Amino acid sequence: MADAIRLPAERRFAAELAALSTLPGVRPEGWRLAPRAVAMFAHGGQVGDLPITRKFWGDDALVERAVASLASDRGLLLIGEPGTAKSWLSELLAAGISGASTLVIHGTAGLTEDQIKYGWNYALLLAEGPSPRALVPGPLYTGMRTGRIVRFEEITRAPHEVSDGLLAALSEKLLSVPELAGDEGLLLGRPGFNLIATANTRDRGVNEMSAALKRRFNFEHVQPVADLDEEIRLVREQITSWVAGGPAAGVVLGEDLLELLVTTFHEIRTGTTLEGVRLERGSATMSTAEAVSVGYNAALHASFFGASVVAPRDLVGWLAGTVVKDDPASAKALRSYWEVAVKPRASAERGAWRAYWAARDLLEGVGGAPKSR
Ligand SMILES: Nc1ncnc2c1ncn2[C@@H]1O[C@H](COP(=O)(O)OP(=O)(O)O)[C@@H](O)[C@H]1O
Ligand SMILES: [Mg+2]
Repeated sequence: MADAIRLPAERRFAAELAALSTLPGVRPEGWRLAPRAVAMFAHGGQVGDLPITRKFWGDDALVERAVASLASDRGLLLIGEPGTAKSWLSELLAAGISGASTLVIHGTAGLTEDQIKYGWNYALLLAEGPSPRALVPGPLYTGMRTGRIVRFEEITRAPHEVSDGLLAALSEKLLSVPELAGDEGLLLGRPGFNLIATANTRDRGVNEMSAALKRRFNFEHVQPVADLDEEIRLVREQITSWVAGGPAAGVVLGEDLLELLVTTFHEIRTGTTLEGVRLERGSATMSTAEAVSVGYNAALHASFFGASVVAPRDLVGWLAGTVVKDDPASAKALRSYWEVAVKPRASAERGAWRAYWAARDLLEGVGGAPKSR
């Protein structure tokens, strides 16, 4: 039984990281792995007898550019729709490069500079005055001092004056502590330090970041998984690993059901069916991460309430919850999806699609629409 709900990547995949550290290649100063090994940690491969699992699905060239950016004097900014694994990729890169992914700043409207840089132990500060002992390091301070990657999640949600406080750290690689005198008041970043930020295209725009800060980053746009089969495989692997050993272990989520689930997300996201029919667009975020969570929740539900197999009908309620999260009006688009995409497949007797169609009553009233019939 694990003693943590979720382990950071460097602990969960410790054996893989140890194997990857044996791969040859020039390591940038302060890095635990060679660049090629860092990329392999994310997109998978093989070291001797040990398979390195694919953890990030998508553009391998993007991963390689991201690794190269982090060896340069600029930070890396991953932007994209919610649920495209920006945070996950940043965790993997930090774990691969620094062996630690837990120096994390979360961008919120209430973020203050001392949460990023340093604060004080006020008891010590009052008793002894400012001293290195009284200083309470924040993630940026620790990352610079130890030469590790710092992650800044949802950077565009932080107040500008706070995120702009990163400028000196990123360009001069130094952080000054005016309260401390002399050398103690100047922290010089060690090799290996860099910053990975993520930003959500649904939030206040990256465009509003100051030009000075933007110039300190290389931008990479992370796209949703484009290939349906690849997305099905990813969702299958994720759900299987979440279900394994947990309360839903033993519940069957069949291939036909996975196809149903992922196809729905895929088609609504792209706005066309696989046959090329255009769909009504809602603004809901139909991300792969949401698909995984719908499948997993349905499995949990089945397990807790006495079913051994997840049925098409079981997906519909969870799906409706996902769709109305961003925009209640998207419920209308979901109902139209049932008419345009699900119904023809159901009448063509395509297995699980029939049961899916039969569950359309669950969509009535979703998003506040009046009940018909
Ligand atoms: N390309 C992908 N590769 C791996 N996992 C993905 C991918 N796209 C979505 N996911 C799923 O999304 C989850 C993480 O999403 P997250 O990193 O929080 O997204 P974001 O930060 O972009 O909102 C992963 O755990 C995985 O289930
Ligand atoms: Mg994120």
